[in-house]
Amino acid sequence: MGKQRIMQGDCIDLLARLPTGSIDVVVTSPPYNIGVAYNSYDDRRPRLDYLAWLTQIARELARVLTASGSFFLNVGGTSCDPWIAMDVASAFRDIFVLQNHIAWVKSVSIGEDTVGHFKPITSRRYLNNNHEAVFHFTRTGDVEVDRLAIGVPYKDKSNITRWKHGTDRRCAGNTWFIPYKTVKSRAQKFDHPAGFPVELPERCIKLHGITDATVLDPFLGAGASLVAAEKLGCKGIGFEIDPVYAEAAVARLKAHVADEDR
Ligand SMILES: C[S@@+](CC[C@H](N)C(=O)[O-])C[C@H]1O[C@@H](n2cnc3c(N)ncnc32)[C@H](O)[C@@H]1O
Repeated sequence: MGKQRIMQGDCIDLLARLPTGSIDVVVTSPPYNIGVAYNSYDDRRPRLDYLAWLTQIARELARVLTASGSFFLNVGGTSCDPWIAMDVASAFRDIFVLQNHIAWVKSVSIGEDTVGHFKPITSRRYLNNNHEAVFHFTRTGDVEVDRLAIGVPYKDKSNITRWKHGTDRRCAGNTWFIPYKTVKSRAQKFDHPAGFPVELPERCIKLHGITDATVLDPFLGAGASLVAAEKLGCKGIGFEIDPVYAEAAVARLKAHVADEDR
């Protein structure tokens, strides 16, 4: 539907069918190995097995990416196991260059005010966990990105002329505040336990550059990455092992496309 293709199956098998150098942007969030109750995937396995599995997938992603491709990997940890994201990134060291490390902030308190949502924990040791990592991997570390596509206006407008910038736009940096929308039911989360907001893959795709981009999400879940690709006019491919989630992603995309046509 639209420019998107969703395939149900194991991403290892499905990746093997993709031609070498056929993907411009991978944006994805794998299971974090923290015991999330997915329909069919067991999210609790020995750490080394988990890392070896993701590394096998990362090697295939390196094969299918173009030389100037971008691989955005969203991973988070838990309050008591914050190493997960760093262990995953470290496991990919021999395969990719970590070109940017972005912090996805879900909730922030400024002064006495708080914006965004997070799952509070009761603890004498740990802080509430309000952020996750988005690792921007490339094959060479030398891939030009479109910083201003996700830029922000200058606070101090005198900088526009002082630094000879033609436009009132500057790089927004590597801290992205993207809160979840307030939802009241599981259905509003597309019956998936671990989705990210569409704005997250949208920013990643824009940062890479949208011209003629083909986007891949090998762990599609309820389809946020392909909604983002469709919104930006990019082609997209999504793999999801669970038939129920794959169906949810198809329905979500159909609803999005129908809504755009109205
Ligand atoms: C963190 S969720 C992705 C959520 C997605 N970003 C969203 O917004 O809905 C990870 C997904 O990977 C799927 N998955 C696990 N193993 C897989 C595999 N071998 N191949 C494809 N999908 C898999 C799970 O069923 C789950 O839906």
